[in-house]
This record gives sequence, structure tokens and C-alpha cells, in this order.
Amino acid sequence: MRVIVEADADRVATRAAALVAALVRSKPNCVLGLATGSTPLGTYRELIRMHREEGLDFSQVTSFNLDEYVGLAPTHPQSYRYFMQVHLFDHINIRPERTHVPDGRALDFDAACAQYEQRIREAGGIDLQLLGIGSDGHIAFNEPGSSLGSRTRLKTLARETIRDNARFFDSEEAVPKMAVTMGVGTILESRRCLLLATGSSKAEAIRATIEGPVTAQVTASALQFHREVIVILDEPAASLLQRREYYDDVEQSQRVYEQQTGRIW
Ligand code: GLP
Repeated sequence: MRVIVEADADRVATRAAALVAALVRSKPNCVLGLATGSTPLGTYRELIRMHREEGLDFSQVTSFNLDEYVGLAPTHPQSYRYFMQVHLFDHINIRPERTHVPDGRALDFDAACAQYEQRIREAGGIDLQLLGIGSDGHIAFNEPGSSLGSRTRLKTLARETIRDNARFFDSEEAVPKMAVTMGVGTILESRRCLLLATGSSKAEAIRATIEGPVTAQVTASALQFHREVIVILDEPAASLLQRREYYDDVEQSQRVYEQQTGRIW
């Protein structure tokens, strides 16, 4: 895992967007795995700016989102499909038919989940998966106890997650109790993962993810098995890391390498 600590959330966003943009430029028909939540919002804003001001072209990009609440229609303001439209898709030139968000209202979830996995395979697999992290250490909606080999499926949300996400709904009761989510195994098959975390409420989950043991109790810790993960944190999210000096040293070496080669991936 490469751990990058930036001064604040804005810098996390610009750094993350630069990495996404570099991939889109070098592989215009890349497959992006996208995330919802407040953490990637700044990254999406920056990508929209790059599209408008620098001509960053998404016309050949395909996207797959991590998850969706069960029971919410795509037009529901709290659905993740709606979130993606409002915060990214409506402002860039990605083709609507190339954007995929799991169907939260499928009649047959087993079939719909298998089809989602199939579509990812048909698209050639995910080149870069953007990830946030729940305060309980989950990625997508893979709550503690999820199999580290899990695939796209239905998942019951943990109470902590329902409480965390209630801020987007009228009340805690209005938060759906289930979601359809890519599995940990699905995520681990992405060629690269980019995990973002900001704020002190994520510090313990980040410590456990990066420096704790791999455990299904912190599903993000499974990323330790992945060959190419970049974690970008702000100072508060990084505040409990014990090996901070080492990460900074690696970052310095990496910068020299990037200057010499011109490659940021
Ligand atoms: C939800 C999403 C996750 C996201 C997490 C953190 O649970 N399913 O993908 O990482 O929230 O959200 P936020 O970025 O708002 O803290």
C-alpha cells in the first residue's frame, strides 16, 4: 500500500482527481469503479473542472458504482444513482449507457447481482476502483463480518452505518436497512484501488486498515492483499498511523521516480 498524507481534504481531492485523470488520458476507454459518500465529492468537483477547463474526455469511459440502497428508485434523491448523476455524470461527457449502478429495486437480486459481475467482466474488468471507508472500516457496503471473498450481493447495513448515513435522510428510520454491494472479492479484482479518507472520524478505521491485521471485521484491511493500492488521507484521518515517517520517506522517493519517468501510475 502506498500511503499519501495531504494537508487537507481539498488536497486529497486534487491528488485523487489527478490520478484518475492520468488514467483517463492514458487509457481513454478505461473502466472506472466509482464510489458515493461525502469523501469523493471534492474529487468529482475537480474532475468536472478538468473536463470543462482542460477538455478531460470521458466519452469512451465506462463506470461501475460500488453499491446502491435497496428499495430506492434511481430518481430518489438519496439513491446512489441520483447522487452520481447530480455530482458527476450530468457534468461530464460520459455516455449514460456506459454508467452502471447496481439496481436497488431488482425483482430478482441474485440474478441482478450475477449480471452486474458479468457486465464488469464484459467491460474488461475495473482499471481503477475509487473507495471511501465507513467509520466501521467497511468498503462499499461490506460491513464487518463480510466474507473477504464476497461478490456482488445483498447486505444488511450495520447500525453504525445507518447512523452515519442518516444525515442524508430525514431520519434514521428513513435509511434503508439493506443495500446491494460489490463484494470484497469483486473489489480486490480491480487492477488498482484508490482509497480516500478525510477527517478524524475515519482515523481508527484507517489505522486498522493499513496497520492492523487483515480481518473480516475491517473489510478495508483486505486491501493489504491487493498489489496496487494508493491511500490518500488528510492529516486528521492519518493521525493514528504509527509508521507515518516511513510513508513520508516512500512518498519522497516516489516523487523522484515520478519526476524522472513522468509517470504517476
Ligand atoms: C457508505 C458507502 C461507502 C462510503 C461510506 C463513507 O457507507 N457505501 O462506499 O465509503 O459511506 O461515506 P462518507 O464518505 O460520506 O464518509
